[in-house]
Amino acid sequence: MDRIEALLARMTLDEKVGQINLVTAGQTVTGAQGSGDVTASIRAGNVGGVFNVWGRAAIAEMQKCAVEETRLGVPLFFALDVLHGHKTIFPIPLAEACAFDPSLWERTARAAAREASGDGIDLTFAPMLDVTRDPRWGRIAEGPGEDPFVATKFAEAKVRGFQGADLGNAMAIAATAKHFCGGGAATAGRDYAPVDISERTLREVYLPPFKAAVAAGCAAIMPAFNSVAGIPMTAATKLLRDYVRGELGFEGVVVSDYTAIPELIEHGVAADVVEAAALALRAGVDMDMVSGAFLRLPEALARGLVSIADIDASARRVLALKQKLGLLDDPYRRVSISAVPQFDTKNLALEAARRAIVLLTNDGTLPLSPKAKRIAVIGPLAETRSEMLGPWAATGDPDKGITILDGLRALLRDCDIMHESGGGIDRADSGAIHAACALCEQAELIVLCVGEASWMSGEAASRASLDLPGRQRELAERVLSIGKPVVVILCSGRPLTAPWLVERAQAVLATWFLGHMAGAAIADVLTGRFNPTGRLAVTWPRDVGQIPISYSERSSGRPFDSSNPFTCRYLDLSSEPLFPFGHGLSYAHVVLSNLRVEPRTFRLEDAVRICVDARNEGDVAAESTIFLFVRDRVATVARPALELKNWSKVLLDAKETKTVALTLSTSELRYLSENFTWVAEAGEFEICVGLDAQRSSILTQRVVLL
Ligand code: IFM
Repeated sequence: MDRIEALLARMTLDEKVGQINLVTAGQTVTGAQGSGDVTASIRAGNVGGVFNVWGRAAIAEMQKCAVEETRLGVPLFFALDVLHGHKTIFPIPLAEACAFDPSLWERTARAAAREASGDGIDLTFAPMLDVTRDPRWGRIAEGPGEDPFVATKFAEAKVRGFQGADLGNAMAIAATAKHFCGGGAATAGRDYAPVDISERTLREVYLPPFKAAVAAGCAAIMPAFNSVAGIPMTAATKLLRDYVRGELGFEGVVVSDYTAIPELIEHGVAADVVEAAALALRAGVDMDMVSGAFLRLPEALARGLVSIADIDASARRVLALKQKLGLLDDPYRRVSISAVPQFDTKNLALEAARRAIVLLTNDGTLPLSPKAKRIAVIGPLAETRSEMLGPWAATGDPDKGITILDGLRALLRDCDIMHESGGGIDRADSGAIHAACALCEQAELIVLCVGEASWMSGEAASRASLDLPGRQRELAERVLSIGKPVVVILCSGRPLTAPWLVERAQAVLATWFLGHMAGAAIADVLTGRFNPTGRLAVTWPRDVGQIPISYSERSSGRPFDSSNPFTCRYLDLSSEPLFPFGHGLSYAHVVLSNLRVEPRTFRLEDAVRICVDARNEGDVAAESTIFLFVRDRVATVARPALELKNWSKVLLDAKETKTVALTLSTSELRYLSENFTWVAEAGEFEICVGLDAQRSSILTQRVVLL
């Protein structure tokens, strides 16, 4: 009998349900309910894992209690939401996604794992893999954006980064792919709201990142709070058991989200908590976060609602995870690393922050001219350290951050850098706005730092309006009307719909929440020390009325035609986004030409070579991202207007031309047929290569699949 079976055989029913109970220690708050006296619960054998606690001493003490004061001495595991860094805070995931750089995604996860494991953490509730096309949903900040292909690459990189090659390594932590699934399609962008998406969209858009995470070996999966087509994900047998365990072959732990199990009562699918616990367990949930509902499973067993085999299976999976984490051999594995090796997170955080910045517009005002000697840095986000960190950054020390003002002052030593906040993020008095405008009058150039507070995105942070909050619009309009050049730094967890601002400012940068090195990275981009490379991982709408919005929408039978009112359009607004997916400028000007696809007629098993010439017409070197999309022109099921299949990056010196090769895996031409099998239908496809998803600027070649 192996070790886990031997352990299981010695356990009482209560000890088994204790193993599948996860409690919060409350060092940070990520939900409304607490877990009471955690030490007493551990001692009573009611706990399998603890989250929301970090630090070697605190963790060692709890572990000691489990190991020395419970009958079988089974160690606990310790978990935390390490979303975008632990001690060192990197850009929020949506911002990181804009780097289109899997190696960077992996390296930041690796660094976070090293810091978190050094603080005693065994498992993170990350990566968050919710594809979303609705920026009203505050959790858009935590994920990889709108595209399933990007999300799969993100999933693979993050799982590799957190877990490394061996979870038993003390500096690796287990990854949790969350939130499974569909949360990004929450009705009207309201967090926790029900979701209604078709089976096709589910399989084509929302499931692929989870499939990729499982293939990469992720240790855990967290079901989403929401229901999909009437089935709450915490009770979704078809998706959890049949798809995740059956189709994907997932053998890890399924851990519920915070109190999601008793919420099955509010969902209207369970009459009481015992029934809710039974429903979740039967659906495939192994571990209950916070609610204590699984401690009622003995009652469910007595009522005949679950079998002992179900309870055993979940307890076995939790024990197996502990074994993989090396905890059965050494319960203090991650709290006893004698010397945590030094590694440079500062430069990595700077690199990640620089690469996340997307230059949305620029009339030539950027990079800043060395001639500008008096610069007014205005706005409530100019001098804040904490807001730069973004949501889910509880373990990061805000005092270690670099503000935008700090960053500019450090680089522009000969300039007179003046500052007024113009009020707060969500409120301001007229005096503050007036003082800011008065200061702008004295300046040659204005850097306007506006946007959201970090609490305005993340969990439970949906917004109905995506304009600047508080009185920032008034501040910005008054600053813009002064007539001096204005460079806008837009800090936010999502695209903000402020076309009025974009149209009137000389340059606009989307800087999201960039983490500790925000100010340094922004200053590097403003001064031209770093030529911006970020590309939007999400379509940027011009108005909330356009949401949900995505570049890959299917064509209408009546596509927009300005000469025909009976076509797909709004009466009062263009359907075009403000910025397309993939958009992002640099200080150079790169143009693509001469798209070649060889052969033009091929079979699925053939290799297809795609090349394009990229020329930098600018005067400075630039890195450009080149996207490969495909359009299936005629298929049994209507296909998206464009589907991303790959991207490639190229470094170009000033005036240099390079041929860039893009790889198309022909299996990517398959799609879900009417019968939900993956098929490739013979016929015409368009191979589309561009610098973003703007159809009019894309190079296209027709090819034929035999
Ligand atoms: O991991 C999170 C989840 O994303 C949202 N609810 C709380 C969990 C634990 O903090």
